[in-house]
Amino acid sequence: MIGSNIEKAINEQINAELFSAYIYKAMSAYFASENLMGMSRWMDIQSQEEMSHAMKFYDYLVERGGRVKLTALEEPPFEWDSPLSVFEAAYEHEQYITSRINHLTDLAISEKDHATNIMLQWFVSEQVEEEANAEEIVNKLKMIAESRHGLYMVDRELGSREAD
Ligand code: FEO
Repeated sequence: MIGSNIEKAINEQINAELFSAYIYKAMSAYFASENLMGMSRWMDIQSQEEMSHAMKFYDYLVERGGRVKLTALEEPPFEWDSPLSVFEAAYEHEQYITSRINHLTDLAISEKDHATNIMLQWFVSEQVEEEANAEEIVNKLKMIAESRHGLYMVDRELGSREAD
């Protein structure tokens, strides 16, 4: 059986991961509307990955005898100023998710819930990768500045992303 504090915190994290899937899907739609289909694909795969993160927490809670409670999702943004502003927002969002995972880990430790602590270690490592991926794209987009040719190249590169 899982403690009620951990159950509540995991349910909140399920919402945060589902919101991540939602925001990246909104970003994918934005890129499609700008004819940047490589970036749209990258965000679509990112959205699917977030859904799998939500399901990891969901399955874990069920396995521990907890009760999953799905709650309303916030409406994601609709417009961005540029591809750079989208990826800056994605990078910022991942930093926010990292802080949530760290708090969740602190809670598991303070509640002496070793199983949850071990489960969370996967997410601690995953967040290092999530932040690095978003930051790398932000840096590339800063490097190309206003170059249309550069944008085309980055779009093409991001379009080669394969689903995990
Ligand atoms: Fe599920 Fe991108 O963190």
